[in-house]
Amino acid sequence: MRGRIVRALARPLVMAAVGVAIPLLNAAPATADSVVVGGFPVDVSQSPWTVALASRDLFGGTRAGQFCGGVAVAPTAVLTAAHCLGRDVVGAPPTPDLKVITGRTDLLSDQGKEIAVRSVWVNPGYDSSTNGGDFAVLTLAEPLPSGAVVPMAGAGDPAYTPGTSATVYGWGDTDGNGAYAHSLRGARVHVLPDARCERAYPGGGDGTYAAETMLCAGETTGGRDACQGDSGGPLVAQGRLIGLVSWGNGCGRADSPGVYTRVSEVVRTLSRADGAKALRPGADAT
Ligand code: ARG
Repeated sequence: MRGRIVRALARPLVMAAVGVAIPLLNAAPATADSVVVGGFPVDVSQSPWTVALASRDLFGGTRAGQFCGGVAVAPTAVLTAAHCLGRDVVGAPPTPDLKVITGRTDLLSDQGKEIAVRSVWVNPGYDSSTNGGDFAVLTLAEPLPSGAVVPMAGAGDPAYTPGTSATVYGWGDTDGNGAYAHSLRGARVHVLPDARCERAYPGGGDGTYAAETMLCAGETTGGRDACQGDSGGPLVAQGRLIGLVSWGNGCGRADSPGVYTRVSEVVRTLSRADGAKALRPGADAT
């Protein structure tokens, strides 16, 4: 498990270092991943809550330093994956040039706004060996443009029902071989029954699916999925946030759906934790 996450993030790092994407440790045959993501171009105005996490110091300026996705859930609060903020990824303490990019469809443009991160709260329950609890909250130094937030789906929300159509958004790899998008994309997938996710990831090398804290989504024939670089980004169904891109075996493989942090678990945890401060209306975000 740990290996997969490290691999995912090692690639953007290598890309930053040498200026070209070199698929490092991913020995998967190109054919298996060749139709990955199966996405379509999205203008950020269609999903204004989708943001990019970026650091030019760590990841280079070519794609504005983008290395993960995120999603705005309150004017000064962005959710992302805990594994995006590991010491191995952003350093400890996190790099001072960590930014959230909002309102920018194309990373090569200067559209939208780059906002500094005031504080980082990583779910203390995150377990990097199982990927359980893979979420974190970024508190922004200034509010996002108004309206650019998406509501989180709580437990029991019908948007979690298996078979529900959902869309995942991101600037990640579009072919499983390190072809990082510079323009935002979306891919339509379906929420899958927990039994299928458990069958796909029973434990061992490919990871273990845990229904309480994760959900999985994909297509029976594969071909549409999130991929490396999309982590932390949103999975939205019926206008509500149900998942954060977390992990998977390869990208877009028929028998290996994408696994997401279950947002109802985020809601439950934040309702008790200090990290929720920024989510409470009127709260001082420090
Ligand atoms: N861990 C990856 C990242 O850091 C996300 C992988 C998602 N994979 C998938 N097949 N859905 O960007």
